[in-house]
Amino acid sequence: MSQSPSSSPSQYTWAGRFSEPMSDLVKRYTASVDFDKRMWRQDIRGSLAHARMLAKQSIISAEDLADIQRGMAQIVGEIEAGSFEWSLDLEDVHLNIEKRLTTLVGDAGKRLHTGRSRNDQVATDIRLYLRDSIDDILVLLGQFQSNLLDLAEREAATPMPGFTHLQVAQPITFGHHLMAWFEMTRRDAERFADVRKRTNRLPLGAAALAGTTYPIDREFVAAELGFDGVCENSLDAVSDRDFAIEFCAASALLMMHFSRMSEELVLWMNPRFGFVKIADRFCTGSSIMPQKKNPDVPELARGKTGRVYGHLTSLLTLMKGQPLAYNKDNQEDKEPLFDAVDTVTDTLRIYAEMISGITARPDNMRDALRQGFATATDLADYLTRKGLPFRDAHEAVGLAVRRAEELGVDLPQLSLDELQQFSSLVGEDIFTVLTVEGSLASRNHIGGTAPDQVRAAIVRARARL
Ligand code: ARG
Repeated sequence: MSQSPSSSPSQYTWAGRFSEPMSDLVKRYTASVDFDKRMWRQDIRGSLAHARMLAKQSIISAEDLADIQRGMAQIVGEIEAGSFEWSLDLEDVHLNIEKRLTTLVGDAGKRLHTGRSRNDQVATDIRLYLRDSIDDILVLLGQFQSNLLDLAEREAATPMPGFTHLQVAQPITFGHHLMAWFEMTRRDAERFADVRKRTNRLPLGAAALAGTTYPIDREFVAAELGFDGVCENSLDAVSDRDFAIEFCAASALLMMHFSRMSEELVLWMNPRFGFVKIADRFCTGSSIMPQKKNPDVPELARGKTGRVYGHLTSLLTLMKGQPLAYNKDNQEDKEPLFDAVDTVTDTLRIYAEMISGITARPDNMRDALRQGFATATDLADYLTRKGLPFRDAHEAVGLAVRRAEELGVDLPQLSLDELQQFSSLVGEDIFTVLTVEGSLASRNHIGGTAPDQVRAAIVRARARL
């Protein structure tokens, strides 16, 4: 009881082998077109390169190639115009496009799949899609970094407390803090560029799993599609998704960094800190409390980090039990991957803008500095320079801090007499050491918080961008 190809499209592709149609539930369960249609550009790009190779190798005729190109051009137009009819019956993006091509150009459309399988086709599409996404991400990351550097430059000498254990530790500049963010994202960019290298290899030619009997030219297809080379084992080419896992790992780390920045912004926006203002267009109000201005964007970035971690775990788990070569499990790679791409892309886009909408509130930063004995280490270093062993200096300063706390003042407000009670080595020059500006300027080496060093770091960073 064979079905005619036109009566049931879902049976069209493999009808020969089957004696009854697929149930609707199975159709819905196995279809991926709802989410993989977003790779349609990559799918067509890959098909056209494959067709050019088939024609070059005389596997199909020049007319077939021309028909395929004409049909694909029309399909691009239909999809862009929104008039293309995606059908669940045709399972995925690959079969939907191939079926439409055949409807439009006849036999040439049926010849396109010569020497190819959906297994190497989908692996190629994902790699192309991911490569495009990585390129977008690197551009957005660059925009964020460039705007971050502008802010860091404006605030290169603005004192704020640096924290350890979220307790005031030592004076730093706001610019220095922002340059820590820059370094975090610089490594993120390196990681994505590195993932790109291993992503950018061509699976096509692996066919279903073992290669193909046609005289194909894989290097030609690789060059046409801008791949750096071909995947060198057909089984590996169609089956592994380690590049997607790496992408999610790089994404998880990037989101971890943005989540940490977000946490700081949330704290700094709190009136108890009051270190920064975030432009109103990135904040929201409360439906009940009229006074509220909430840092929703950083909070959401912090929240969305969790889903990206989840995607990494999903993909690792997806791969771990799969024997070579292709298994349908792999169809489940797309939703986590696409969502990771979307989340990272959106987060970067919004952060690139938001960072330009952040203004420092230097007075509050300085107030906070006065409350935490931030120059205590400077006093200890001073005594050490005068010959006191550092451990003894540490103890003497500890006593001085206790005294200042009793009096309710900061260290520089103690009199010379009082300071000398803790060490006779203290001289008049101590008061320059205990100022915030003195403390900052003295950390004057690469990686240190001295404003000159921060400015030098910004110059180096700009040169690298
Ligand atoms: N939609 C499938 C996927 O995403 C395409 C490959 C199907 N291959 C197969 N042998 N059923 O993995």
